[in-house]
Amino acid sequence: MSDLVNTSVKDGILTIRMNRADKKNALNLEMYDAMAAAIKDADTNPDVRVIVITGTGDSFCAGNDLKDFAENPPTGKSSPVMKFLKAISTAETPIVAAVNGTAVGIGTTMLLHCDFVYVAKDAMLSLPFINLGLVPEAAASLLLPRMAGHARAAELLMLGEPFSAKEALDTGIANAVCETADLEKVAMKTAKKLAAKPKDALRTTKALLRRDFESVAQRIDAEAEEFKKALASPDAKEALLAFKEKRKPKFN
Ligand code: COA
Repeated sequence: MSDLVNTSVKDGILTIRMNRADKKNALNLEMYDAMAAAIKDADTNPDVRVIVITGTGDSFCAGNDLKDFAENPPTGKSSPVMKFLKAISTAETPIVAAVNGTAVGIGTTMLLHCDFVYVAKDAMLSLPFINLGLVPEAAASLLLPRMAGHARAAELLMLGEPFSAKEALDTGIANAVCETADLEKVAMKTAKKLAAKPKDALRTTKALLRRDFESVAQRIDAEAEEFKKALASPDAKEALLAFKEKRKPKFN
């Protein structure tokens, strides 16, 4: 297991904590691998009935490591990001997310695959793919319009502006907005309730709620193809360079 992703099991609850606070919990290859393995293992571990995902420091997850986008772009189905997306989108175990701060890119799209999402009051979320010359991933182009309606999904994905915890609640991404100090307590309260439910019926209920996993998987793949092309575009290269050089990108 990676030091950058901490896991612990207590009372049937597996907590997966992204632990790279100095980089705002941006996910590198090692972290995707560790999170994919933890989620997959949970499905077969008799001691685990619920998963809680959260972050350390003031950030939930600042998205894909932008240095990795340039140096280790995702190559196909066996890439760590694709393994992570497959694990979270097909998980049998119920997942509760405690969004303790900033959630960018995959930090937000992973929430679309969680069953319960609690967001700290001050957290900001964003889907900035467009501003990086990129396209949606994690089946966000399918799931977000379903949750939020086309109009709101278009705003979030085509303008790419940050949105508040309250807006995440209004768009149907989140179950509740919490005081930051209470966030983990609230997420754990739900996790404990879930852990006390009959395991098989709970998993089957989740599977029924997410029965269209085939269309989700197809959309993840279709987006990944477009993402790969976009990542090689001059606009994305300029956006990544601009982030590295701490300046605004200049698109043609
Ligand atoms: N990849 C790699 N490093 C990242 C990162 C990412 N996605 N997000 C943040 N970091 C790093 C910063 O480079 C910085 O590193 P440094 O201290 O070595 O310079 C450190 O984390 C702190 O980030 P900083 O930008 O100083 O913090 P902030 O509070 O001002 O802003 C964010 C936080 C998340 C809003 C901002 O860092 C950001 O926009 N990050 C990029 C998010 C993104 O576009 N993700 C990909 C989406 S597809």
